Amino acid sequence: MITLENKKALITGAGRGIGKEIALKLAAAGADIAICDIDLDSARQTAGEIENLGKKSLAVRADVSDADSVHSLFGEFSNTFGTCDILVNNAGITRDGLIVRMKDDDWDSVLRINLRSAYLCSRECARPMMKARQGKIVNIASVVGLMGNAGQTNYGASKAGLIGLTKSLARELASRNITVNAVAPGFIKTAMTDKLSDEDKEKLTGQIPLQILGMPSDVANAVLFLCSSLAGYITGQVLTVDGGLVM
Ligand SMILES: NC(=O)c1ccc[n+]([C@@H]2O[C@H](COP(=O)([O-])OP(=O)(O)OC[C@H]3O[C@@H](n4cnc5c(N)ncnc54)[C@H](O)[C@@H]3O)[C@@H](O)[C@H]2O)c1
Repeated sequence: MITLENKKALITGAGRGIGKEIALKLAAAGADIAICDIDLDSARQTAGEIENLGKKSLAVRADVSDADSVHSLFGEFSNTFGTCDILVNNAGITRDGLIVRMKDDDWDSVLRINLRSAYLCSRECARPMMKARQGKIVNIASVVGLMGNAGQTNYGASKAGLIGLTKSLARELASRNITVNAVAPGFIKTAMTDKLSDEDKEKLTGQIPLQILGMPSDVANAVLFLCSSLAGYITGQVLTVDGGLVM
């Protein structure tokens, strides 16, 4: 049985989708959870559901791509919960388009929200985790960071960058008993993939050996494992949760 009793976790972009599922899963395992999202109403909604599970929660509006906003987020976290035991860098966006038509803003926003955010949040929690000589950081990457996808140069670059950050940070923090891993989901049923046409969804499903799209709970289960003591000897790894798409 996995337990996260007495652990304090911060999940970014947890107002909906995969982040929300991760938050609920970690809370069900016993952790108190801070929900951060750029959309405060959705963060409050998730926080309410966590309190219904009997755990403490905190909803914070933050833009994880902005250093001042991230600094205040961690300030609020430490005032409420103390040291952060678990950080899940989940917030992410897509702004798809072929490179010949890509706008600078589409490139920059995706890199800022998907990659710079993980650097900013990891930097904030690294020192207290090092002091505590324990911690778990999980970055939500994507199979697109491993295999690429036409029309997603910005997204693929951000997720490949996140994998590089994961491995370097894992080496940097390992001597302090802090693990840093990435989960790379394949195609998961959320608002992000609902944007795809039925034809695209059918084409994608055809490429997946298990022949179905994944669910947010599939990703959350992998994150729960990596945040638990069962994964204490695992660091710097990328765990794909993709129905076998990348092997
Ligand atoms: N859905 C998939 O198929 C899939 C596949 C691979 C990877 N992922 C990754 O999983 C993560 C979650 O994806 P999802 O499908 O749940 O997406 P989603 O769009 O449903 O949820 C993303 C959440 O992040 C929040 N967010 C966006 N920008 C933010 C910012 N600047 N600051 C704080 N919060 C912000 C949004 O408000 C939203 O609540 C992302 O990193 C995504 O790249 C998703």
